[in-house]
Amino acid sequence: MSILITGGAGYIGSHTTVELLNAGFDVVLVDDFSNSSPAVLERLEKITGKKFPFYQGSILDTEFLDKVFTKEDIELVIHFAAFKAVGESVQKPLKYYKNNISGTITLLEKMKEYDVKNIVFSSSATVYGTNNPSPMTEDMPTSAINPYGYTKLMMEQILTDVAASDPSWSVTNLRYFNPIGAHESGLIGELPNGIPNNLMPYITQVAIGKLPELNVFGDDYPTPDGTGVRDYIHVLDLASGHLAAVKYNLSHKGAEIFNLGTGHGYSVLDLVKTFEAENKVTIPYRIQGRRAGDIATCYASPEKAKEVLGWEAKKTLKDMVRDSWRWQTTNPNGYED
Ligand code: UD1
Repeated sequence: MSILITGGAGYIGSHTTVELLNAGFDVVLVDDFSNSSPAVLERLEKITGKKFPFYQGSILDTEFLDKVFTKEDIELVIHFAAFKAVGESVQKPLKYYKNNISGTITLLEKMKEYDVKNIVFSSSATVYGTNNPSPMTEDMPTSAINPYGYTKLMMEQILTDVAASDPSWSVTNLRYFNPIGAHESGLIGELPNGIPNNLMPYITQVAIGKLPELNVFGDDYPTPDGTGVRDYIHVLDLASGHLAAVKYNLSHKGAEIFNLGTGHGYSVLDLVKTFEAENKVTIPYRIQGRRAGDIATCYASPEKAKEVLGWEAKKTLKDMVRDSWRWQTTNPNGYED
């Protein structure tokens, strides 16, 4: 029996693949390379010393999914395949709703058809919206302020409703906080399309000289230094969280939600200073106005994941900045190197 990983060549999907292969699971990867590279597959084999089936295609394509589910013996799906750029989702809402929502529905219909009723879903802390205090707990009210956020919220809801309609389903919604870092080998990492939207890839591109300076979006928030506070989590901790979630999913029915965060908040300037000190580089930065839609502080309560999944994040902010920088310096042009 195998675990099907949609979006397996992406940032979080690739690190989770390493974790599952190292834990002895068989995996099958699916990706359309819309935001990833075929080179990831060779690198995954290099890191793990293992081979695995791969299918290039879209989860919107029913014939493609028929091929995968017919050829492979799948027992659980980890569903990463989705678009994730907030700004682009505002410009192109239909692109986001079609890919993320229709893609998930198509996948779920095929899972039902082939009697594969275990799914671990890639959700986001974005569903906590703008009004909840930190630490955020899974029972807090959810909301969205952009199409990307709405897609995550709707996908969680669809999965929860499916589980409620049929007790043989097992649904695990994982709400990620801010994943950064990369595998210690420097072989896989985050590869943003164009100019990064997220803080860490922007910092590494400034550090390597691709971008002139970092824009710090606001220094007048009610936080210790005035800049936004987030729960940065090493992508390898996130990957081990998926392993714990898979084990839980396979032994429980119904729908559950878990935060995957560290429970610690760091400011934009904490991240910049730690990056500079640990990697011996300078990050020129300029304070700008606040970015629309940002909140002051967002960090997880990791208690439920700790109690129920027996999982907690282990890596430090220093580990995260070091591994992000190693990935950037060993692959200045991403997977083209
Ligand atoms: C963002 C998305 C969130 C999504 C997540 C996925 C927004 C408003 N939120 O989270 O929905 O789930 O990415 O990765 O886009 N910052 C700067 N300068 C920059 C970039 C960021 O100062 O160039 C600051 C931000 O204001 C924020 C912090 O850095 O305080 C983290 O930003 P980012 O990495 O974009 O993550 P989120 O906004 O938390």
